[in-house]
Amino acid sequence: MTESCSIVIFGATGDLARGKLLPALYHLDAAGRLARGTRILACGRRQPDRNAWMTVMRNALAGSVRGELDEEVVSRFAKRVDYLRGDLRDARFYAALRDTLDQSHEYPADTVFYMALTPSDYADVLENLDDAKLLDESRGWRRVVLEKPFGNDLPSARALQQKLAQHLREDQIFRIDHYLGKETVRNILVFRFGNVLMEPLWNRNSIDHIQIIHAEPQGIKGRGATYEASGALRDMVQSHLLQLLTFVAMESPVSMAAEALHAEKLKVLKSIRPIPDDKVTQFAIRGQYAAGTVNGNKVIDYRSEQAVAAGSHTETFAALRLHIDNWRWAGVPFLLRTGKRMAEKQALVAICFKQPPQQFFRASQVHCEASNWLLIGIQPHECMRLEMTVKAPGEALATRQTSLDASFRKADDPFNDAYEELLLDIMRGDRSLFLSYQEVEQAWRIVDPVLQAWSQPGDDLHFYPAGSWGPSAADDLFVDPCRFWRNTLEPCGCGMRKTQGV
Ligand code: BG6
Repeated sequence: MTESCSIVIFGATGDLARGKLLPALYHLDAAGRLARGTRILACGRRQPDRNAWMTVMRNALAGSVRGELDEEVVSRFAKRVDYLRGDLRDARFYAALRDTLDQSHEYPADTVFYMALTPSDYADVLENLDDAKLLDESRGWRRVVLEKPFGNDLPSARALQQKLAQHLREDQIFRIDHYLGKETVRNILVFRFGNVLMEPLWNRNSIDHIQIIHAEPQGIKGRGATYEASGALRDMVQSHLLQLLTFVAMESPVSMAAEALHAEKLKVLKSIRPIPDDKVTQFAIRGQYAAGTVNGNKVIDYRSEQAVAAGSHTETFAALRLHIDNWRWAGVPFLLRTGKRMAEKQALVAICFKQPPQQFFRASQVHCEASNWLLIGIQPHECMRLEMTVKAPGEALATRQTSLDASFRKADDPFNDAYEELLLDIMRGDRSLFLSYQEVEQAWRIVDPVLQAWSQPGDDLHFYPAGSWGPSAADDLFVDPCRFWRNTLEPCGCGMRKTQGV
């Protein structure tokens, strides 16, 4: 249980607050994990008053919570929540906010400011909060939560950081990456550092390459304007996939404290070899979805989506080959891939082990032998699966693949959404699963040469039919022709390229 605090949500009528934050707080309340005195102040412009806001909130909860709404929890939760209408660009709003927080004894002095806003608004809101003395910590702590993107590239991230640093200490800033709140992602740390089994194998001696994959059948969900300014590289790779990579590749931290974890993750990011400006096409593949069929439904091409330019060259698919220049990972490629309007929802870390030094047993006439794989299913199938070669019964020394499965969750285990865990961490002041500024800076350093190259149209933009696994050009990131993308968790048999679900 955390101590009571006040949670002020800016942008409370927006998608993030309605779809993620309020449902997460509701579930925490339902599970008895919110301190009795914790109060939530929703700030927005769209709703005229508390009553109207309550209807919005109720609808949001009804559409987003797991299972049926529990009326008892709804009414308890509603008592914690109030609404303050105002324009974030108007200094009078901050005076009203200060009065609300100070004058009512119901609001605990310790305060979280959650910026569920467009990042370009962060600096102005902070300046206003500071001017109104709302960042003053003489009566209680102040923490500020920021959602990605933290800038658009390295220079803009630096500029944003300079502005943040004028108003806040680093330990007050919580840069959220919801992937780090996913239990299956945190389980990577437990799997690696809570067991001795894998550590001797977790390096260049045994591992051939590592894939970090995110695919989703959904398109841009009406976010045309935002997505046009972002693209898959900024939206997924610079943030979530690079963070996943740090969890897979880092050394054991001295403790699970924030500074120790940040230090190890930062070392990994710093060791990633820069992609040369003139060789981007060898290391990065971009794609954009054309019309196609997803889950049996016909869907339009990206360029026909609302608020997308007719000749847009924004990538909806990005794949990268990265190399980590350190003792553990020298020579082991890390392949990252993400795409919208792909065949299935799949987030997966796939670790491909080297083949035995000699091949005595042949399963078939294929040239490439099967490898051992460790598959870490992040979502929707949460699992740890180790694929191995066994003898095929009956035939003389023929082989086939089987797997050892460690399911992550038992049927009656609770499910906590990423935002629930991260919100609790913010209330506790635990920054270990939030990003340090240095990590953000390194992540931009890694993707900036690619962003630069992709800022221009070019014949390297590969179109793929919606509902496929993306452009086949991404196969070429594997230097070895026997290597292939693991699209699914299904056993893949031999190591021939393009055997899987293409
Ligand atoms: C968000 C991206 O950060 O992550 C979205 O902005 C993407 O474009 C989403 O769809 C994916 O998250 P998840 O948890 O559904 O894999």
